Amino acid sequence: MKNKSEIIAFPDLKQAGRRDLKAPAPTRVASSSPSQKLLAWAKGKSYCLQTSGCQANVRDSEILSAYLENLKMRKEEDPLISDLVLFNTCAVRENAEVKIYGELGRLKKSAEDNPEKIIGICGCMAQEEKPMRFIKDNFPYVKLVFGIHNLDSIYTLLDACLTDEKRIFDVPSKQGEIVEGMPSLRFDKYKAFVNIMYGCDNFCTYCIVPYTRGRQRSRKIEDVVAEVNCLKAEGYKEVTLLGQNVNAYGFDLKDGVTSFSNLLEAVAKTGIDRVRFMTSHPAYFTEDVFKVMASYPNIMPALHLPLQSGSDKVLKRMNRHYDQTKYLALVKLLRSYIPDIYLSTDIIVGFPNETEEDFEETLKVCREVGYDNAFTFIYSPRDGTPAAIFPDGVSKEEKSKRFMALKDEIDKEATAAALKEVGKTVEVLFDSVSKKNDEMISGYSRHNRLVHVKSDSSLIGQIRKVKILESHTYSLIGELLDE
Ligand code: 5AD
Ligand code: SF4
Repeated sequence: MKNKSEIIAFPDLKQAGRRDLKAPAPTRVASSSPSQKLLAWAKGKSYCLQTSGCQANVRDSEILSAYLENLKMRKEEDPLISDLVLFNTCAVRENAEVKIYGELGRLKKSAEDNPEKIIGICGCMAQEEKPMRFIKDNFPYVKLVFGIHNLDSIYTLLDACLTDEKRIFDVPSKQGEIVEGMPSLRFDKYKAFVNIMYGCDNFCTYCIVPYTRGRQRSRKIEDVVAEVNCLKAEGYKEVTLLGQNVNAYGFDLKDGVTSFSNLLEAVAKTGIDRVRFMTSHPAYFTEDVFKVMASYPNIMPALHLPLQSGSDKVLKRMNRHYDQTKYLALVKLLRSYIPDIYLSTDIIVGFPNETEEDFEETLKVCREVGYDNAFTFIYSPRDGTPAAIFPDGVSKEEKSKRFMALKDEIDKEATAAALKEVGKTVEVLFDSVSKKNDEMISGYSRHNRLVHVKSDSSLIGQIRKVKILESHTYSLIGELLDE
């Protein structure tokens, strides 16, 4: 196997963390078409695209899929027998990276048996220096590594792999542009993710995202609205507006008028059945967003509002720009506008030197808020972020103990909240046959609760009224009401 590497750009986290925010980020329109050579290579070949991580990564994979399908490649689930395997990776916690090394190890034999096979890495992990050095040195059969900022170069990069028979590393560590006009093959027929912005300028001390995804760059309101109108015309029922910090939407445009509440209202006015958004940041949340949420019935009564920690000391060291009092006041204000809001959150346990008292503050906020759901994580140090070098005297065992205690608290609250749904009539957008029972179909209520009912698949894609009969911690069982 050829092992020469061509390094066009190797990731550089220091460079990636620099910000020059004087002017808005540039926008460009993607244009790339495959060479005859690439088309000839792709003929009859298969690709396997594996995606980990957040919705932004899923959206990127929809774009990559379209590029590959345009080559007339066949989609394949099994990486062992695919001609091209692409891992669109996540870097938020270490375990996502460890999984990728495991997957790569599993592919060693198939790569050696088929020297033509192209194995590639892209996504957030590709933007990190250390893991890419490790991959360069330990997985010689990884032939292609590219980053977040050059998805639309995929044809040129594949061409280079074929022509030079070299390993290509092309991971620009730049602040990024807005790239419009990339093709996309959406994975869902009724629900769609719509990017409203890219990147993040917040630099929470634990988070790698501002380094992997570049500076905050907001799309224009008219581009977002045009995308939602197209989706509506194609029969989509629900859009989720995506950004790392949607409440800061528009800040970078510096026009003094563009804000998230303007955008949300414009999207609601398209008349699409359902609008959701994520992720919100408590420090940037403004009351005008609650007003818009309360005024448009097609904005769903569900909010994901990451807490991260309930301790003021920890929040400060996390660089979150709010404290417990401010967070709780925001929840109170939210409930004054939308009393039955479904509230979910993200919480990190075991941040460096988190004390038992700090953790108790987190539990206290959970009890006070009564979350409907929470995504809980044990802190994972990320090379290149400030918190990675914070001293940490808390043992692994202690962190695990707190993690389990938090999970118990959250499960208790979620179970109690779900029980209150029994007897209610809710509207469900059905999107699939139930994974556990093929006589049932599944979908989400307006409050983002998973609901299963007995029915055939003909109702998939429809919004129907359901009476809730039974509750589990994270799902409900109901019966269809006649319409
Ligand atoms: N360790 C653990 N959890 C993290 N998150 C982000 N960075 C880390 C990290 N280094 C969590 C946060 C964030 C969610 C997407 O992932 O809670 O909101
Ligand atoms: Fe990471 Fe904080 Fe930005 Fe979210 S807001 S992506 S946690 S830096």
